[in-house]
This record gives sequence, C-alpha cells and structure tokens, in this order.
Amino acid sequence: METAHDSIWLADSAADQLPAAVEPPQELTVDVAVIGGGIAGITTALLCKRDGARVAVIERGRIAGGATGFTTAKASALQQTKLSQIRRRHDADAVAAYATASIAALDWIEREVRERAIDCGWERLPDVTYALDERQVEAVEQTAEAARAAGLPVRTTTARTALPLPFDVPAAVVLDGQAQFHPVRYVRALAAQIPGDDCHLFEQSAVVGVEEGAPCTVTTDDGRTIRASDVVVCTNYPLLDRGLFFARTEAARSYLVAARLRDTADLPRAMAISAGEPTRSIRAYRDQDGSPWLLVGGEGHLVGADEASPARYQALERFARHHWDVAEIPYRWSTQDGMPVDSLPYAGRYAPRSRHLWVNAGHQKWGMTNATAGARVVADLIAGRQSRFADLLDPNRVTVSAAPRLARAQLWVGAHLIGDRLTPAESSSAEEVPPGQARVVRAGLGKAGVYRDDAGEPHAVSLRCTHLGCLVHWNAAERSWDCPCHGSRFSIDGEVLAGPATRPLPRRDDMG
Ligand SMILES: Cc1cc2nc3c(=O)[nH]c(=O)nc-3n(C[C@H](O)[C@H](O)[C@H](O)COP(=O)(O)OP(=O)(O)OC[C@H]3O[C@@H](n4cnc5c(N)ncnc54)[C@H](O)[C@@H]3O)c2cc1C
Ligand code: FES
Repeated sequence: METAHDSIWLADSAADQLPAAVEPPQELTVDVAVIGGGIAGITTALLCKRDGARVAVIERGRIAGGATGFTTAKASALQQTKLSQIRRRHDADAVAAYATASIAALDWIEREVRERAIDCGWERLPDVTYALDERQVEAVEQTAEAARAAGLPVRTTTARTALPLPFDVPAAVVLDGQAQFHPVRYVRALAAQIPGDDCHLFEQSAVVGVEEGAPCTVTTDDGRTIRASDVVVCTNYPLLDRGLFFARTEAARSYLVAARLRDTADLPRAMAISAGEPTRSIRAYRDQDGSPWLLVGGEGHLVGADEASPARYQALERFARHHWDVAEIPYRWSTQDGMPVDSLPYAGRYAPRSRHLWVNAGHQKWGMTNATAGARVVADLIAGRQSRFADLLDPNRVTVSAAPRLARAQLWVGAHLIGDRLTPAESSSAEEVPPGQARVVRAGLGKAGVYRDDAGEPHAVSLRCTHLGCLVHWNAAERSWDCPCHGSRFSIDGEVLAGPATRPLPRRDDMG
C-alpha cells in the first residue's frame, strides 16, 4: 500500500453515512445559520434544531472534512499540559471550570453515542501525560498539581506496568475514564440528524460574507443568500474580520501517521501524550476489519513556519518503528487548529456588540470536548437560557494575563507583514524551478510562487494572502502555500484549503 496524504478516519468511513448532497436554493430563510461542518458546527446546529430552530449548515467542503477529519480524537479532561497552561493565565476557579466543562462534554458525547447507537468505536480508557525525558518531568508535575487542584482524580506513576507504553518514562500523570473514538463516523452520525423539519445541510458551498442585522444575511461564493435570525461561525479559525480574533489567535499545525501493527496484543490500552517538545501523542485504533493501528502525532509548529517539511513525518515514523512492531505506515496527514493566546476557547457572542452573531472556535487542539462544550454554550445563549460555562468561554473576556503571548503573536504577524516584503526572490525565472519543488520567483516588480509538479507542469500563484495581505510560504510537507499570519492555506493553484481567507490566490499563468 502506498503512503496516502489522507487521514485514516476519512479513508475508513462509509461514504453513504451522510444524506445525499442537496443544492442550496438561491434564497433561504432559517432561524440559525451555522457556518462550518466540523464537530463545532454540527454539534451547535443539532442542539439548535433540538431547541426547535430551523437551521442551515453551510460547509465549504465535506462534513467532517476539516480538522475534525484529521484529528487524533481523544476526548479527555487531562489534555496534555493544558490545565497548567490555563493556571498560568487564569485563577484556580477557571481551571476547575474548564475541567468540569470537559468532563460534561465527554459525558454528553457518550450519551449521544449510546442513545443513538452511533457506531464510532467509542471506548473509555485512561489518558496519560508522560515525560519523554528528564526535561519534561517538571511539566508532568505541574500538570498533576493543576489537575488535582481542579478536582480531577489523577494518579502519578512511573511504573511501566501501569502505563500503556513499551518504553520507560521518568514521570507520568494518569486520568482514568477518558475516551477515544472515530471522529468522522461520530460527526457524520450527528449530521445525519439535521436535514428535515425545515433544517438543511449544504456541502461544497463557501461563505464569503456575513452581515449582522434583523435578519442576518449570509452570502456564498456561488451567489446564494441565506437569511437567519442568528449566525454561528464555526470555521475553525474565525472567519470574519471583527472581534479581533486575528490579533489573539495563533494557527498551529501538527502531523500524524497511522501504522498498522503486526500484533493486536501490542495495541496501547490507554491514550498518551508527552508533556512538551518533542511531542509524541499515541492512541490505538481498530478498523472496520479489526486490524490494529497505532496513531502517532506530534511535531507541531505555527502555520506558515518554514519547518513544514516531510522530515516531520519521518520523525514520527521512526518513533513508531523504534517502539512497536510495525507492518506498514500507509497513512500520514497533518492539520491545524486555532490557539487562543490566553489558553481558553471562544464560545459566545462574536464581538462585544454582537446580538445575533456567535462563534464556537479556538479549540486549541482539544476540540472533541471544547467544541462540544462551546456548542452547548452557544445553543443555550441563542435559546435565551443561562449557560453554565458562558463566562469561562466568553470570546470577549478581558485577557490581561495573556499579554506576553498576545505580544508574541502580534510580533509574529508584524514580522510577516513587513519582513516578507523584503525577502529576495529565490529564482529569477520559473524555468529554474525543478520538478517536485516550489520557489519564490521574481515577477516584474513583485514576486510569485511557482511550484513545478512531478510531470513538469508549472503552477504559479500570487504570494499575497487574500485575507490581510501577508506573504504565503511554501509547505513542503503538504505541497501547499500557507500564510504565517492567521493560518490560511492555499492549493498549488491557489484554491482556499483553510481560512480565514475566503478568496483564492490569483493565478499567475503568465509565469509558466
Ligand atoms: C494534529 C491534531 C490532533 C488533534 N487531536 C485532538 C485530540 O486528540 N482530541 C481533541 O479533542 N482535539 C484534537 N485536536 C483538535 C480538534 O481536531 C479540533 O479542535 C476540532 O476538530 C475543531 O473542530 P471545528 O469544527 O472547530 O473545525 P473543523 O473541523 O476544521 O471545521 C470547520 C469547518 O468549517 C469549514 N469552513 C471554513 N471556512 C468556511 C467558509 N468560508 N464557508 C463554509 N465553510 C467553511 C471548513 O471546511 C471545515 O469543515 C487535534 C488537532 C490537531 C491539529
Ligand atoms: S491568513 Fe491573515 S493575512 Fe493570511
């Protein structure tokens, strides 16, 4: 089997799990329009439907085809070192509320799975944060302390027999009763409940504009208009240029490989993740034929950073082969998530003065629980109910304690807005670009990005991101043009792969 740049979840999920695609009408009026069909959008839309609203989900690609289709899908309240990160920026009550929200979300998902008999391999297991080496021991200890203070019944151990790992570790903290599952089958099973009773699911339709009003107006790239009393933005990175999300959310990318093991007995009986760099995230999966798979993730960096290279996958593959008896590694993939600078997700009003515009985003690589918790908050608020975690996740909270990371994020964006313009071209003509490679090529007074495919065909695009104008960088691991400022990604021909950009990079066919 050749190595595919595809997630095992999308490869191993029945295409017929979703209702047949429906063309959106030219005009439509609903109560709630939800933009984005990942776990955040689908859960939010389903909850609003259950509250009696007429909903429409508008998804640019396929349902669960964004980060949700490329995740590791551990549902845990331990979340690597997240609790100690939150403690550094917020008070102890906030950490306890975050842990409680995660447990409540996990229980909600489990109830859905059981009551609707969703076939998604749901399995409760211990979750482990471990020290890969001595440098990570302190982070494990801080995590254990923050988790205990938040009321989670964690235990610490180094005993190899108590851990799911085939190697010794100097320290580990364990939280029992967390869960892993198949994210695509789960989300598509939720999505299948949406159509009907004046509710709609539209795929292959990208939103390019939203006006808040009475009603709100949503416009799509194919010229359709959806009017809605309320609009919820669930596009992973918030789509709209208001609410200052661009100044306070970093986009971070990580990599995963799926290795088929020779022996089912080698499958880890827990989920695990190391407490720092290098990150090595581990979980097991049994596919529909019962074959044993090991997933190893890690090697994260900010989107658009120059270290997006195939060597990331090779490092994960080496780790898998070193510690397990691997038969083959046919899948490798990567994805990204929004990282709020103060380490709490955003669920609630889009901007301080928004009345009918909402957001559920910034899930900081723990969206199985965070997006579910956020969906419950947004659905409560739209229905006019009090919501237990609304203050915690309020997108408009004052995040003074996050100032150092905010400054770092702004410096990063500023450096790419200004500094990149001074970057010299790497080649003076497209002919110099070898097959399988990309270069920044001089084009008149400016520059263009030229990728030459393996067959020798050039693909040239403008390098200026259509979001706010930073210059995109070549991602050699995924063969895409990625923007370092807010994480938009574009194909070799300029199509939008990830927002917040909504318009493609102009093609530079004159460069061929
Ligand atoms: C490598 C990695 C591993 C992870 N592992 C875990 C884990 O083990 N456990 C965990 O809890 N979390 C994990 N996460 C995080 C989790 O995957 C995400 O937080 C979650 O999937 C985000 O869901 P979402 O619905 O917000 O985003 P997405 O799933 O990306 O959905 C957003 C959707 O919006 C659509 N969209 C965007 N723009 C538009 C537009 N203009 N018009 C219409 N549609 C649009 C996109 O096509 C996409 O389908 C991981 C993240 C990464 C990067
Ligand atoms: S994503 Fe904002 S400028 Fe590119």
